[in-house]
Amino acid sequence: MSLPTNVRLVEVGPRDGLQNEKQPISVADKVRLVDDLSAAGLGYIEVGSFVSPKWVPQMAGSAEVFAQIQQRAGVTYAALAPNLKGFEDALTAGVKEVAVFAAASEAFSQKNINCSISESLQRFVPVMEAAQQHGIRVRGYVSCVLGCPYEGEVAPQQVAAVAKELFAMGCYEVSLGDTIGTGTAGHTRSLFEVVGRDIPRDKLAGHFHDTYGQALANIYASLLEGISVFDSSVAGLGGCPYAKGASGNVASEDVLYLLNGLGIHTGIDLEQLIAAGQRICNVLGRDNGSRVARVRHAAQ
Ligand code: HMG
Ligand code: MG
Repeated sequence: MSLPTNVRLVEVGPRDGLQNEKQPISVADKVRLVDDLSAAGLGYIEVGSFVSPKWVPQMAGSAEVFAQIQQRAGVTYAALAPNLKGFEDALTAGVKEVAVFAAASEAFSQKNINCSISESLQRFVPVMEAAQQHGIRVRGYVSCVLGCPYEGEVAPQQVAAVAKELFAMGCYEVSLGDTIGTGTAGHTRSLFEVVGRDIPRDKLAGHFHDTYGQALANIYASLLEGISVFDSSVAGLGGCPYAKGASGNVASEDVLYLLNGLGIHTGIDLEQLIAAGQRICNVLGRDNGSRVARVRHAAQ
């Protein structure tokens, strides 16, 4: 299969990246990050989550962040909503697109959202109905698609079953999450080959955490499978609070460097993206998780 000419990057840094940070981060710093990212040309930004603040305290200010960002025309600003309450809070905050999230492993589903996989899917039904009423698009996630921190190996058929249900209930796109970053290029190809039998490949996305340093290889493998939407996190920020040891998503800067090298269009400016990532790293007092950004920064 030939490579796509265009790729859409879904920037999850403000949500997946920051959700795991223990230190307080001001609303102003979160807003600045989102505005820097849209200025760099990102067309899709996951800004926050409407989840229980007891479960993920860092996302508690998501409504304030939505109220203060400068919404640019043509940019999608999305949020996670695990249930109807989350959806209603998102709606009140003026959110125009939400994401629901399920898992391919039972143990992770219990740890992350306190219910079984089938209960989670039932919970999404009223969310989908309300979203349709309000003209809100819903994206779906499946976690632990290439391994689970509690159950180990996860069969592609298990992923396909959950992804198929999300797609059938109205998610316009399903993002497959390698939550703990154990996947390899070979497994990634098999996964898309299996899931791609039930869902058109242009309705699938890849969401790779970089724990084992395989994320860029997995993205390249996904491109070869006809996938053209990838989730990434500026400066490689983050990790999942319910997947111990899981590192951040693949760094957006590094994915962009890969795509630029392949001549694939994204509409994103690498230098502005690097500056956005470095700024939030300075705020957090963290090393930059992007290899590309580290080289560019050292050269200055
Ligand atoms: P629960 O405790 O079972 O919920 O949590 P409940 O319905 O029994 O309600 C208990 C309390 O929570 C009640 O409050 C509710 O009002 C409140 P109380 O009466 O005790 O004061 N509550 C809420 N508050 C705010 N927003 C809500 C909400 N819902 C209930 N939406 C629940 C179930 C799903 C809420 C909880 O487990 C939760 O919030 N989990 C979120 C976990 C999370 O955000 N994980 C990280 C994101 S997923 C991820 O990172 C993976 C991904 O990146 C892909 C990948 O990498 O694989 C997407
Ligand atoms: Mg994730």
